[in-house]
Amino acid sequence: MSGILDGKRILITGVLMESSIAFHAAKVAQEQGAEVILTAFPRPTLTERIARKLPKPAKVIELDVTNTEHLDRLEGLVRDELGSLDGVVHSIGFAPQDALGGNFLNTPFESVATAMHVSAFSLKSLAMACKPLMNDGGSIVGLTFDAQFAWPQYDWMGPAKAALEATSRYLARDLGKDDIRCNLVSAGPLKSMAAKSIPGFTELADVWNTRSPLSWDMEDPEPAGRGIVALLSDFFPKTTGEIIHVDGGVHMMGA
Ligand SMILES: NC(=O)c1ccc[n+]([C@@H]2O[C@H](COP(=O)([O-])OP(=O)(O)OC[C@H]3O[C@@H](n4cnc5c(N)ncnc54)[C@H](O)[C@@H]3O)[C@@H](O)[C@H]2O)c1
Repeated sequence: MSGILDGKRILITGVLMESSIAFHAAKVAQEQGAEVILTAFPRPTLTERIARKLPKPAKVIELDVTNTEHLDRLEGLVRDELGSLDGVVHSIGFAPQDALGGNFLNTPFESVATAMHVSAFSLKSLAMACKPLMNDGGSIVGLTFDAQFAWPQYDWMGPAKAALEATSRYLARDLGKDDIRCNLVSAGPLKSMAAKSIPGFTELADVWNTRSPLSWDMEDPEPAGRGIVALLSDFFPKTTGEIIHVDGGVHMMGA
């Protein structure tokens, strides 16, 4: 059976638990014919354990996206394993506890800087670490949570996502000449580890129960995974710097 990622080699960051959006991106990517390599943070053993639940085996490489040594050695490790890449998934986000949950006005800059480094600047770091592997062009896909709005509890992750969205557009601008696309999936709320670390996440997520035109299941990351795979495929060949909402339609509701 043919799939929309047949013959493609894809690097996927962010597989931590089965609830990770990246796990579902990896699962759908393999089902659609891709060869997948995973990166792991904080420990490869955790990701290796979860990777066993994927349809096919996937090699795991350690990558703290703020660690320049890890970034520098990534190209060689991926080249030894796959030779080259056609796609990269950035599914990484983190903010310290004092940057979340209603502390917006008092968060120290150090915590804001960490959120920005891990959640936004890292898209550029990852793209540049992988660029030498994408000689025939490629597709980079990241994950955002709609940064047009001020959400309850989300606090400094909001500006970090706004920075991620802008970074994606600038990468799209600068990598277009190499036929590398850069797009984001803007997902609705999902009960992952990252979400559970946001105090009061349910207050935020409740918006979806009342405003989503399509029914929204916070326990089902597969629609986001499918959106990612669509953007990795050849079916969006002239789309870059775009944000595709996989949020049940909440983004366009007025009231
Ligand atoms: N869960 C949601 O409601 C939701 C909604 C929209 C967007 N997102 C975004 O989706 C992405 C994935 O999150 P998730 O919900 O699957 O949660 P998750 O906790 O499963 O994934 C977050 C990942 O970030 C990784 N990470 C954190 N610091 C890192 C570092 N220094 N280096 C490398 N990796 C690091 C973690 O290892 C983890 O795998 C994030 O960008 C998140 O902001 C999540």
